Amino acid sequence: MKTSPKPAVQILRRATPLRPRLALVLGSGFNAVLDRVEIAACLPYSKLPGFPSTRVTGHDGRAILGKLAGVPVLILSGRAHYYEGHELARVTFPIRVLAEYGIESLLLTNAAGGINRKFHPGDFIRLTDHINFMGANPLRGPIVEGRSHFVDLTQVYDPALATFLQRAAKSAGAKLHAGVYLAVSGPSYETPAEIRAFARLGADAVGMSTVPEAIVARQCGLRVAGLSCITNAAAGQSPHALSHAEVLAMSRASGQRAMQLLENFATLYAKTETD
Ligand code: HPA
Repeated sequence: MKTSPKPAVQILRRATPLRPRLALVLGSGFNAVLDRVEIAACLPYSKLPGFPSTRVTGHDGRAILGKLAGVPVLILSGRAHYYEGHELARVTFPIRVLAEYGIESLLLTNAAGGINRKFHPGDFIRLTDHINFMGANPLRGPIVEGRSHFVDLTQVYDPALATFLQRAAKSAGAKLHAGVYLAVSGPSYETPAEIRAFARLGADAVGMSTVPEAIVARQCGLRVAGLSCITNAAAGQSPHALSHAEVLAMSRASGQRAMQLLENFATLYAKTETD
């Protein structure tokens, strides 16, 4: 994709003199944190050139600049998904904008199905690694402004940011596991046979986002953390069928703890920045 991130960056810079270095992408269930943000500027994605539109229930599309627990943050509330029909280059364009803007660290959040039997709905997991099972890679295509195609993914998820997540969860009273997230293209949920296969491949949780964003963020040199809210047992691991309504209901039910976890994370992040 040839779109430059610069026009969107200019709009974000003009919106407020605040210059956050931390960005959060809010997936299903993490939007409650917006109640705690002292908002300096709020821009719908439709006002940011190159940003994809987001249409799925539970994913509005707004870029918010403000302070969370007194810490400057840039929040992308809502994301576009591959399953909506967008190319991955478009899905991940906002990440290029964050990098050009000057963001250094990025926390990607999402809702996921629990494959690991130790994970229960309402628990959280920090991503230790991922498996890209989407059948597509966001870096495919022409080279973007001199950035290498051949990005090293030996350590996608930053260990220092992972420590902040652990400490943040503990003081929020949230159960935080660690595990491997497997990304599928969706939009159908998986079959029980697929989930059994994914378990054998080493996946602990399954979802339809985050991995493309993490790959592009690493290409841009951002430090990345990944946080999933387990909204359901993966297909075949509970007696009932999966539904988007169930996923949204559980993500809403976890909203308060998610909010506290993110607030604590921002506080810990800012503390080390100033140390
Ligand atoms: N599968 C895929 N994506 C999901 C799930 C799931 O079970 N739960 C939330 N997002």
